[in-house]
Amino acid sequence: MKIAIPKERRPGEARVAASPDTVKKFAALGLEVVIETGAGDGVSIADAVFAGAGAAIADDEAAALGDADIVLKVQRPLFGDAEEPDELSLMKQGCLLIGLLAPLANRADADAYARHGVTAFAMELLPRITRAQSMDALSSQSNLAGYRAVIDAAFEFGRAFPMMMTAAGTVAPARVVVFGAGVAGLQAIATAKRLGAIVSAFDVRAAVKEQVESLGATFIEVPPEEGEEGETAAGYAREMGEEYQRRQAKVIRGILEKQDIAICTALIPGKPAPVLITEEMVKGMKPGSVIVDLAVEAGGNCEGSELGKVVKKHGVTIVGHANVPSRIAVDSSALYARNLLNFVTPLIDEETKTLNIDWEDEIIKGALLTRDGKVVHGAPAEEGDG
Ligand code: NAI
Repeated sequence: MKIAIPKERRPGEARVAASPDTVKKFAALGLEVVIETGAGDGVSIADAVFAGAGAAIADDEAAALGDADIVLKVQRPLFGDAEEPDELSLMKQGCLLIGLLAPLANRADADAYARHGVTAFAMELLPRITRAQSMDALSSQSNLAGYRAVIDAAFEFGRAFPMMMTAAGTVAPARVVVFGAGVAGLQAIATAKRLGAIVSAFDVRAAVKEQVESLGATFIEVPPEEGEEGETAAGYAREMGEEYQRRQAKVIRGILEKQDIAICTALIPGKPAPVLITEEMVKGMKPGSVIVDLAVEAGGNCEGSELGKVVKKHGVTIVGHANVPSRIAVDSSALYARNLLNFVTPLIDEETKTLNIDWEDEIIKGALLTRDGKVVHGAPAEEGDG
């Protein structure tokens, strides 16, 4: 059984789907681990370190993927464009492809995996059940993105975060508001608090109020009226109706006028991100304020954010970095590699050292995208779908 980890080729991707630690563990499971040369460049892991952990180093991607039974990726493979290398065609038929395949945004990819006879698992589709927590790549990556968003905001902000009383005068603390208090938002709150800011947060899920307050932030309430439920049975946010959005906008406008920094993390699985900050609200913010839009890849929570860019509009800096986990690649990579190890380990039979997949297992069923030439995952996460 051969498990391969190629170098990531999508622009701006510094992560790699293995760490020396996971290589050691895969080798201990009896797998032959092959890493493409240079795969660890973005996270400062030299080929020799991977080799020292027990991996064979392949000279190029074709040699790495060639006869691999399992391929671990961060980003979905490249294929189909004449300008790009065709990574999918390098994979052997019947192999397992496991990665952050972004299936809800790239439906056509799944057809290509199926046509090529690859059994694809999308880490984003894992059910968020307790047993799958150690495999939960969305959480491991969002957590670090939430942290990094605050650091990026601090970098762009012309002032300090903490209050400082100095002989030359007092520096006022920064005021930070966090939209969306899921995994990324909660880490953003904790990070901004650690830096000494005064923090408040808003989420449509009333259930997070306690978590926000336990981190020392103020929860901004926009109480739902009867029939307006902010949370699905699976614990995700619901797309809210127009009436709620109108009330929400009024509250947000009032809040933003008094803030220095807004960190946007609000997402609705399988849907465009909700627009929470309109251009008019940006105009109402203090000059020199900073907005970091972590939702920019899903359309953005802020009307003025631009994917992959830092722009200044109406005196406000709007940060729209793409792929924020890759901006903190050493840690995000190490945690992601762990998530993969925890996902793959139960697929391997300890005695025979071969694949033994329980296709009825909730985790397998949840993450499975293609099998036996067919796309097996249904429509994107709808209401109540985890
Ligand atoms: P997410 O990344 O899908 O969304 C981020 C946040 O944005 C969520 O808190 C959501 O409620 C909020 N949001 C959506 N629309 C909004 C709006 N219009 N205004 C303000 N906020 C809005 O969510 P994430 O971080 O992936 O977490 C989703 C749920 O899954 C949470 O309940 C989380 O606690 C839970 N979870 C459970 C895990 C488990 O193992 N049991 C692991 C990780 C998360």
